Amino acid sequence: MNPTPPKIGLPRPARPKDPSDDVTGTASAQTSDTTSISPPAPRRNTPLPTTHPVPAAGDRVQQYRLQDLLGQGVSCYVFRAWDEANETPVAMKIVNWGNVYDRDAALKQMRAEAAALARVNHTRVVRFIDFGFDPRWPYLVLEYVDGRPLGELVRSGGTLPLGWTLYLMGQVIEGLEAVWRAGIVHRDIKPDNILVSTNGVAKLIDFGLAKSDILKLLEGAATPELAGTAAYISPEQARDAGNVDLRADVYSLGVTFYELLTGKLPFEGRNRMQMILQHLTAVPTPPREVNPEVSPLVSDLCLWMLGKKPEDRPQNGRELRQAFAKAVETATL
Ligand SMILES: Nc1ncnc2c1ncn2[C@@H]1O[C@H](COP(=O)(O)OP(=O)(O)OP(=O)(O)O)[C@@H](O)[C@H]1O
Ligand SMILES: [Mg+2]
Repeated sequence: MNPTPPKIGLPRPARPKDPSDDVTGTASAQTSDTTSISPPAPRRNTPLPTTHPVPAAGDRVQQYRLQDLLGQGVSCYVFRAWDEANETPVAMKIVNWGNVYDRDAALKQMRAEAAALARVNHTRVVRFIDFGFDPRWPYLVLEYVDGRPLGELVRSGGTLPLGWTLYLMGQVIEGLEAVWRAGIVHRDIKPDNILVSTNGVAKLIDFGLAKSDILKLLEGAATPELAGTAAYISPEQARDAGNVDLRADVYSLGVTFYELLTGKLPFEGRNRMQMILQHLTAVPTPPREVNPEVSPLVSDLCLWMLGKKPEDRPQNGRELRQAFAKAVETATL
């Protein structure tokens, strides 16, 4: 064990008793980190365009001036933009019509992402700012995070120092607890959907697959049959993506944790089906056997998170947080 890891200083501010530390993640009461913002409605009076306009740096989209392309996913562009009304930088997620098969479904999907984000107000989750419709594209405006996806950090440098892994994991657990308290299951937890700012703050992003159990906010948003990323997907989500609870996020975070601790995925496969088969049946090598620096408690927690059945994992945010805090104490011995 590294005797002098960077200061872990897990930020766990005192907070009120969690009303929704339950299995389903459904919350009946608002807490300090959920908002009462009503779900955003698209400001659209005109039909969806039938052409493929492509956004570019310098374009103006309502009050936002696009600056640089930050990322490009399957169905979206993400730009850094300048909010001219408020004179602040923002991140704008804009639909990439070129990759969209069903335009109405894409609009619903983005609206669902906005609705999920608008319900969570927590420093470890990217802040929702706006959702709207420019005649060319629906768009989502988010807090701009000056940083890099954790996935990029992992790919560029193998394993992170253990202290950093634990520091970042502590932050992600806090963010996920806030998401679960808002009655939302993220369903796409993986290093690429965790942004790490230049000052070491982790923020959850990409609620494009998020599902809400509380309100029917996300009704109408299609659940792709095989929603989720194969390397990180829980066995139950692989079987039925529409029918999962927060414990599916616990599993995906377990895969992420494993990768950070060992520099390897718990299950490798040449294709999606092979990977999924392993999630369903294969037993992972304990992280401690791959990286002897990992303490027994940390290794055991990671394996617990990777339980095949939802009931074999930490059952809620509180249980996960407490087990993590205990494991972190031993990691510094
Ligand atoms: N708020 C933000 N601040 C800075 N960069 C961001 C922000 N949101 C997203 N990005 C960048 O854009 C990339 C893609 O964002 P995101 O994960 O939300 O969409 P996606 O995975 O491309 O979407 P989809 O799953 O719909 O294809 C991120 O990896 C990150 O580099
Ligand atoms: Mg993403």
